[in-house]
Amino acid sequence: MRAIRANRFGEPEVLGIEEVAEPEPAAGQILIGVAYAAVAYGDVIVRSGRYPLPLPWTPGVEVAGRVVAVGAGVDDALLGQTVVGCTVDQRGGYAERALVRADYTFAVPPGLTPEVALTVFEAGAMARGLLSAMRLGPDDTVLITAAAGRIGSLLVQTATSAGATVIGAASLDKLDAVREFGADHAVDYGVEDWGRRVRDLTEGRGVDLALDAVGGDVAAEAIAATADGVGRYGFYGFASGEWPALDASTIGRRGLTVSGALGTLIRKPDPEQRADAQAALDAAARGELTPRIHARYPLDQAAAAHRELEDRRSIGAIVLVTGA
Ligand SMILES: NC(=O)c1ccc[n+]([C@@H]2O[C@H](COP(=O)([O-])OP(=O)(O)OC[C@H]3O[C@@H](n4cnc5c(N)ncnc54)[C@H](OP(=O)(O)O)[C@@H]3O)[C@@H](O)[C@H]2O)c1
Repeated sequence: MRAIRANRFGEPEVLGIEEVAEPEPAAGQILIGVAYAAVAYGDVIVRSGRYPLPLPWTPGVEVAGRVVAVGAGVDDALLGQTVVGCTVDQRGGYAERALVRADYTFAVPPGLTPEVALTVFEAGAMARGLLSAMRLGPDDTVLITAAAGRIGSLLVQTATSAGATVIGAASLDKLDAVREFGADHAVDYGVEDWGRRVRDLTEGRGVDLALDAVGGDVAAEAIAATADGVGRYGFYGFASGEWPALDASTIGRRGLTVSGALGTLIRKPDPEQRADAQAALDAAARGELTPRIHARYPLDQAAAAHRELEDRRSIGAIVLVTGA
């Protein structure tokens, strides 16, 4: 079978296509013929060497496709079904065949295409999980950074559905999309002092909750825009390449709560994570969560897909199409 492989970390071009042996499902695993694989910013971070994993590395955590084999202990009624799921050891999805965790596999609900189900099941679960970890309430005003992104766009929609007032921050050319996703306000975080504009939108008080995937200077402004005494700042990524700089004296003096929201999410019991993914799929099937697909690339153009994401040109999700 063909698979993308990186034999070193670096530029997108380290993602070459190779002929490799087809994997066999062990107990608790299923093998799927991959129709679509999600391109996540996490894949870019690993590929660039900022979070190295063992080499050679085939990226790809979220996949959609038909079940072609099952391992021991897995119900063989799954054979032939089209499912979405997360790959074993969070790798191997950019390939014609991939091993998926049987316990983190979901049927594609009626009315959804496999591509849409792929785009929503895990990113939507993260959105739900992050907002619940940060205890979003309907009276809250929430600031969401990278609000036009794959996960960010679903965060905006999920927070809006929960009744919160949403301020989405993104690059200038993505602000219309942020509003289309449902944000009450969209703010360009490419300008200096953008946090002041966020504060102005809350009549000077600051937001109740800030959810940040960017880190670096964006994190600093997001923290500055969080309400003294009650504000919560949760981070779940560092697309800028820099973790948020946290100053304990400022946090203590201002009475902020800071949370490593991603760590909370990852450590949630499996049944709760599965329930979040199923709820995201159900919401999409009801038309309440609408992922946007920015671009589709054939498997052998994974490098171009990474470049598109890394160069900040995407709104919503990028998908690899294997043709399986
Ligand atoms: N399973 C997962 O995918 C997973 C797991 C854990 C954590 N995360 C984190 O979740 C975040 C969102 O992931 P995603 O897949 O939904 O990606 P995404 O938001 O679709 O893409 C990343 C976005 O970050 C923004 N950004 C800000 N500064 C940037 C910079 N210096 N370089 C590149 N991009 C920059 C860009 O939007 P603007 O142009 O609007 O700035 C870009 O579109 C990432 O930080 C990721 O590491 C993801």
